[in-house]
Amino acid sequence: MFTLLVYLSFHFSLLFTITSSDTPPYTPTDYILINCGSSSNATSTDGRHWEGDVGSKFLPNDVANISLADTATEQHSSVTQIPFLTARIIRSQFSYTFPVSPGEKFLRLYFYPSSYSSGLNTSESFFTVTANNYTLLSNFNAFLIVSAKKFAPASLIKEFIINVQGMNQFLKVNFLPSMNSYAFVNGIEVVSTPDDLYMGNHDMYANPLKFVNCPNVQFEFDQNKTAFEALYRLNVGGNDVSPVYDSGMFREWASDDKFIWGGDRGNPLSNNEIAIKYTPQTPNYAAPPIVYATARAMGQFSTSFNLSWIFPVDSGFLYLLRLHFCEINPDLITKENQRVFTIFINNRTAEPEADIIYWAHDPGISIFRDYIVYVSNPPDGRRNKQDLFLALHPNLDVKPKYADAILNGLELFKLNSSEGNLAGTNPGIAVDPNSLVSNTKSPNKGSSGKFRVSIAIVGGVAGGAAMALTIGFRTRLLSRRVILQFPAMHTWMSGTCIEFLINGPTTLLNYMFPNHG
Ligand SMILES: *[C@@H]1O[C@H](CO)[C@@H](O)[C@H](O)[C@H]1NC(C)=O
Ligand SMILES: *[C@@H]1O[C@H](CO)[C@@H](O)[C@H](O)[C@H]1NC(C)=O
Ligand SMILES: *[C@@H]1O[C@H](CO)[C@@H](O)[C@H](O)[C@H]1NC(C)=O
Ligand SMILES: *[C@@H]1O[C@H](CO)[C@@H](O)[C@H](O)[C@H]1NC(C)=O
Ligand SMILES: *[C@@H]1O[C@H](CO)[C@@H](O)[C@H](O)[C@H]1NC(C)=O
Ligand SMILES: *[C@@H]1O[C@H](CO)[C@@H](O)[C@H](O)[C@H]1NC(C)=O
Ligand SMILES: *[C@@H]1O[C@H](CO)[C@@H](O)[C@H](O)[C@H]1NC(C)=O
Ligand SMILES: *[C@@H]1O[C@H](CO)[C@@H](O)[C@H](O)[C@H]1NC(C)=O
Repeated sequence: MFTLLVYLSFHFSLLFTITSSDTPPYTPTDYILINCGSSSNATSTDGRHWEGDVGSKFLPNDVANISLADTATEQHSSVTQIPFLTARIIRSQFSYTFPVSPGEKFLRLYFYPSSYSSGLNTSESFFTVTANNYTLLSNFNAFLIVSAKKFAPASLIKEFIINVQGMNQFLKVNFLPSMNSYAFVNGIEVVSTPDDLYMGNHDMYANPLKFVNCPNVQFEFDQNKTAFEALYRLNVGGNDVSPVYDSGMFREWASDDKFIWGGDRGNPLSNNEIAIKYTPQTPNYAAPPIVYATARAMGQFSTSFNLSWIFPVDSGFLYLLRLHFCEINPDLITKENQRVFTIFINNRTAEPEADIIYWAHDPGISIFRDYIVYVSNPPDGRRNKQDLFLALHPNLDVKPKYADAILNGLELFKLNSSEGNLAGTNPGIAVDPNSLVSNTKSPNKGSSGKFRVSIAIVGGVAGGAAMALTIGFRTRLLSRRVILQFPAMHTWMSGTCIEFLINGPTTLLNYMFPNHG
């Protein structure tokens, strides 16, 4: 009863005052906004300054021969004029080359499939996009994606994170029309991020990157060489947070309303009085305070349902889920073992006992936890769309004070496959992943592949060293390690873990047996 009263009182304070004069904690070193197909600079409704690309230094000299600047003949009410009104139509292979500093960059591509004044209807355009050596989109059709989304506006933004490495001082975004087709793009945004924002900040003990398919197994990949697609970014239990209210990287945080699965939606929580605190593990640019100051919890009927979210994704890829937490109810939850819950990802236990106060020590301290999950292809091996589930359920085994669970924010990323591909399928079309070979290079299946098994000593922590079996897959192009700790060997030998290694990323098998196919 007490719990219910507190939840209700929080409902009256859902409004936040945010002033745009607040200086964001991070200032990007590279920040480029291109309004494609426009000859003049313009300011969008959120006050951001966009540069037209006609005559732009980012374009090749022969641009007029292979592309044209175009204007949409109609404008859907949900679609802003800048950057969506104008587009560059691309008839043959073409790159924008952005000089940038090395490091992680957001690359956002803006598309509005519509009819244009040249007479072309970009709903019919199919094309491939690569950036440096990653394939981002393949035989992509923006109209099919927009039409398949239940609640989508008529326009589309695709967001990627690419590490521009040491020697490269540029980000080269290449558009390649499919056979007998053409490409188009309405806007391009490049924004640098702190290098340790999503990658490079994990270590085995303090901030593990948990691999949901094989619990207790440390799964390693070359984080510096991995590109992401940002698929979902949610301010759970709160309202949309527009890019200008982000921590300086212009990320959009959407309300989670559309992604809640099942009839039980839990209770939105908010606390506009608590001062959100950041730590070295959760730097102030991880997520804006409003993301941590709102949440969704279960409330009084908690034991009877799972608080669940559902996300359509492409099969055959690894996904990174970053769950943001903060206890914002200091009248209720201040100590360990008061609210303890289990986190399920794709119906597997990702975290048996999540206790935010145990992790963060105090209310108001922001934390996040990262999980990697592999979404398998169906038995025929062809990529399709699948639903990824996230569910929270109170853990009553540890007898917490309240039967409850909480989540403040969520980010969901797709990781590139081992050959550098991020492209999924168009809705309703299954694709043989072996046919989705990057256009920029062909994978080397020659004699450089080597399967290596070794016994290694890891740790050296209190209580002595732990033995681990390291299985390495090495080629000139890739090195990726799976470390299996002996206590977990039985987990590996049975069930989903072996399924992952054998039916998982098809390339893992290629690297084990380079000549098998
Ligand atoms: C447009 O903006 C860019 C970058 O801010 C600037 O270099 C350029 O001079 C501007 N062009 C015009 C016509 O104002
Ligand atoms: C554009 O095409 C014309 C005719 O084919 C050619 O003469 C011209 O050199 C091309 N321009 C550039 C910049 O490649
Ligand atoms: C453009 O193509 C789409 C999909 O085929 C269609 O729904 C739309 O009506 C077309 N627009 C025009 C102006 O023809
Ligand atoms: C792409 O890969 C090739 C060959 O591995 C390499 O030489 C080149 O520097 C890479 N380009 C970029 C932009 O990373
Ligand atoms: C990854 O990049 C970071 C930052 O540039 C660098 O410090 C680190 O050594 C790199 N790690 C590897 C394995 O290359
Ligand atoms: C919640 O989900 C887990 C995993 O899918 C399941 O074991 C459990 O029975 C579910 N609980 C309820 C109440 O649906
Ligand atoms: C996972 O759980 C959801 C929700 O309970 C259910 O609809 C789905 O079928 C389950 N998936 C698998 C593979 O068991
Ligand atoms: C992403 O692609 C690069 C090759 O371009 C590869 O080195 C890296 O291991 C891939 N990442 C994953 C998670 O497979």
